[in-house]
Amino acid sequence: MIITRHVEARAVLADTRYVPPPVRQDAPPYTLGWLRARVSRFSSGEAHAERRRALEERLAELDPATLRRRARAATLERDGDWRGVPTQVLAAALGVPAPVPLVEAVAAGYLSGEETPGTDAAVAELFRLPGDGPSVITDLTLLLQAHAATEGLIANALTHEGGAGVKGLLRETLRHDPPLKVTRRVDRATGEEVVIDLVAANRDPAVFADPERFDASRGECPHLTFGHGVRPCPASAHALALAAGVLDALRAAPRQLTSERPVSDQREDS
Ligand code: HEM
Repeated sequence: MIITRHVEARAVLADTRYVPPPVRQDAPPYTLGWLRARVSRFSSGEAHAERRRALEERLAELDPATLRRRARAATLERDGDWRGVPTQVLAAALGVPAPVPLVEAVAAGYLSGEETPGTDAAVAELFRLPGDGPSVITDLTLLLQAHAATEGLIANALTHEGGAGVKGLLRETLRHDPPLKVTRRVDRATGEEVVIDLVAANRDPAVFADPERFDASRGECPHLTFGHGVRPCPASAHALALAAGVLDALRAAPRQLTSERPVSDQREDS
């Protein structure tokens, strides 16, 4: 079933009967499958509640305003070459010495579930980095969730650059041109897969006036790009801060903007 209406999308996302599609639980240690079986994003019920609590506690230690300043500074330092900046800034704030290419290598498979020798090797390498205990998975989860979605938001916002304030630009980009297009659930009772079409729901004419028009002055609007209900993105403030910091810097160095192109290989889920 594909959900395109905003009201129905909200109802599914708020209903505990619908859970993320289950992931395998029998993968060998330090492989992609092993990692996916241990994170909040793909778990449900009590395991999800407990893992999500740990994520929220960790996120509460990170100040979005500081992330924004650091993302701005890092982008300026790199003369506008912003790719990798959000992940680098987040990793530094968490104290995780994870190189951006390694996070990127794992992030693709983390979301899609596609297990390859390459992604398994990258997961093993991530877990060889210094650090120990349950917080390692919490910190790596944050980096893996953050990477593609935040870069996708920035890249998409840059295609609409044109004088609007950063806040309005990011908010309307999230609604009109979200970095992730769908999210999935499974009905626990029947096993039926439910695909929530975020692009369609964010342009539902019952909720958004003139929905096809990109309007950075639209103001607060109930887009679903950060999810909703049982498991919305716990880091929307952090994501917005990282993206805003990069845009702050690019506005200070506008010549960099001309080299931007839209994201063409956006990931489906976040
Ligand atoms: C523009 C950037 C981002 C977008 C659009 C986004 C969106 C989302 C969405 C829609 C979900 C829920 C998925 C679902 O319900 O199926 C989610 C989950 C999550 N996001 Fe984000 N996210 C972004 C950035 C970030 C960042 C920067 C972080 C970390 C600092 C982060 C951490 C997480 C985590 C840990 C979860 C899993 C929550 C759970 O399992 O309950 N996200 N995100």
